[in-house]
Amino acid sequence: MNRICAARPLVLALVTGLLISSAAGGPVAAQGAPMPRIASSHGRYELLVAGKPYLVLGAQVNNSSNYPAMLPAVWPALGQMHANTVVMPVAWEQIEPQEGVFDFSFLDLFLAQAREHGLRAVLLWFGTWKNGSPAYTPEWVKLDNDRFPRVLNPQGKRMPSLSPLAPATLAADRAAFVALMRHLKAADPQHTVIMVQVENETGTYGSARDYSPQAQRLFDGPVPRQLTRALRTHRGTWREVFGPQADEFFHAWYIGRFVQQVAAAGKAVYPLPLYVNAALRDPLHPGPPTTYESGGPADDALTVWKAAAPAIDVIAPDIYLPDYARYTKVLDLYQRPDNALFVAETGSKQPYARYLFAVLGHQGIGFAPFGVDFSGYSNFPLGARVVDGKTLAPFALEYGLIAPMAPELAQMSFAGNLIGVSEDSAVHVQTIPLGRWRAVVSYGLPMFGNSTPPGNPVPEGGALVGRLGTDEFLVTGMHARVAFALADASGGRQAQYARVEEGSYGNGQWRARRVWNGDQVDWGLNFTSIPQVLHVRLATY
Ligand code: DGJ
Repeated sequence: MNRICAARPLVLALVTGLLISSAAGGPVAAQGAPMPRIASSHGRYELLVAGKPYLVLGAQVNNSSNYPAMLPAVWPALGQMHANTVVMPVAWEQIEPQEGVFDFSFLDLFLAQAREHGLRAVLLWFGTWKNGSPAYTPEWVKLDNDRFPRVLNPQGKRMPSLSPLAPATLAADRAAFVALMRHLKAADPQHTVIMVQVENETGTYGSARDYSPQAQRLFDGPVPRQLTRALRTHRGTWREVFGPQADEFFHAWYIGRFVQQVAAAGKAVYPLPLYVNAALRDPLHPGPPTTYESGGPADDALTVWKAAAPAIDVIAPDIYLPDYARYTKVLDLYQRPDNALFVAETGSKQPYARYLFAVLGHQGIGFAPFGVDFSGYSNFPLGARVVDGKTLAPFALEYGLIAPMAPELAQMSFAGNLIGVSEDSAVHVQTIPLGRWRAVVSYGLPMFGNSTPPGNPVPEGGALVGRLGTDEFLVTGMHARVAFALADASGGRQAQYARVEEGSYGNGQWRARRVWNGDQVDWGLNFTSIPQVLHVRLATY
C-alpha cells in the first residue's frame, strides 16, 4: 500500500507551550550550529542535538580502545549495532604526557572518523578518578604522592584513590580538562561531541573517606552551610548532622566539589552538557559504604552530589545488574525531577538488551552498552563472553527499530506520553494504564490463540506505547504481545480496533505500509524480532 498519510502533528504540538529551560548553557555555538543542550520542563528532560530531540542509542568502547590503532576495531561493531553515538575515553595520560604539553592527535583523528561514520560522540574524561583510581593520570601525577596525595584509610594506609582535598590535584586536573574543552571547541564546530563525562566512577573502594589529618580536621568541623541549606537540615559537625552516613557523605561532598570545579571551568570554555557516572551500590540491600565505591554518586548520595556539583547536568548510573528488580529499581532511583535518566553504561550481554524499553519508559535520554568493539577484549561476566555480531544482535534489533523515530519518541517522552516496559523473568503479564484504556503486555505467547503467558524462554521482551491522542497510540516492541482493553469495562461497552496501521515515523509524519486485521489483531498485537511499528486507533462497541 505504501501511502503517506496526512502529517499527524504528533511532535511539535506536544511540546508547544511548555516552558523550556536550558540546563547546559548557551543555546547557539559561535559557528551557528546549535549547541547540544539538555532542556527541562516539569521535571522531565530532553537532550537536543542540532536543535532536535535526540536519544543516545550508544555504545561505549573498551577502556583501552582510545588509540588510533584500535579505531578499525571500533567502527564495524558500532555499525553492526546500529548505534548512533560512540562513547570514547580521553585519558589524561594521553593528552598531557608531560605537564603543560598537550597532544590531541587521537581526538582529532577520532572526530574525523566518527564524522565519516555518521556518528555523534560522547567523550569520557579519565582524569583523577577512573573506577576510583588515578590509573589514567599521567606518570607525573600518579608517581608523585607528595604533590598528589592519596586517600588514607583509618589506619593511615594509602589507598589507590587520590584525595579530593589536595589543591594541586584539582589545579592539575582542571587545567587539563579546560585544555581538552578548549581544543574541542575549536576542533568540533559541527558538535560531533554532544556530551562529556567528567571523571569516571568517582569514589574510593575500601575506605569510606579520606582519614588524613587534613580530612579529619574538616570532618570534625561544621558541615558547610551550602550543603545544610540544600538539604534543609540543621547545622553541626558531619557526625552530628549525618550520623552513620557522615563518612560517605563527607567524601561525596568533597569529591563532588572537586568535580564541580573541574566541570565549571570546562563549561566556561565550552558549554556542552556534562555528566558523571555512578558505580552503584546494591539498590535493594545496600551494605555499609566500605562494600561499594564510597563518595561517588551512589543512590543515597545523589542529593549531596546535586548540591555539590551544579555544573553537572546529569548523574548517570552504570548498570551491571541483570535482574529485573534491581535494574528497574536503579532506573527509579536515578530518574528524578532534578535528574535526567541516562544509562551511561550497561552490560553487553543479551539480558540487558530488553531494558532499553524500560529506560525509555523512565524518560531516559539514552543508553550505552559497554565494551562494544572488536578488539577481542570482553568484560565477561559483567558483559558478554565474546563481543561479536551475534552478541550485538539483540541491541542492533532494538536500535534499528528505535532509531528512525527517535526524535518523535524523545518528544513524546518529554511531553510525558511515552511508556515502556521490559520483560520481568518472574511476571509474564504487565499492565499499562492509558486513561480510558489499558494495554496488557504479555510474554512468551505464540502469535495465534490465547493461553496463560509462560514468559519467553529467556527474558528478551519489551514494549513501548506512545500516547498520540485519547484513543490513538503508537505501539511497538520485541518478543511481546500488546492487547488493549477498556480501563473500566463495567459500562457494558467493549474495546475494538478502529484501525491498526503498520508503518514508520519520519520527520513527524506517519507513513502507513499496510493495515493489520484478522489474525494479526484478533489475539492482540504480536511483536517478534521483526521491527514493526503500529499506529493504533481504538473504539468501543
Ligand atoms: C565500569 C567502568 O566505568 C568501565 O570503565 C569499566 O571498567 C567497567 N566498569 C568494567 O568493564
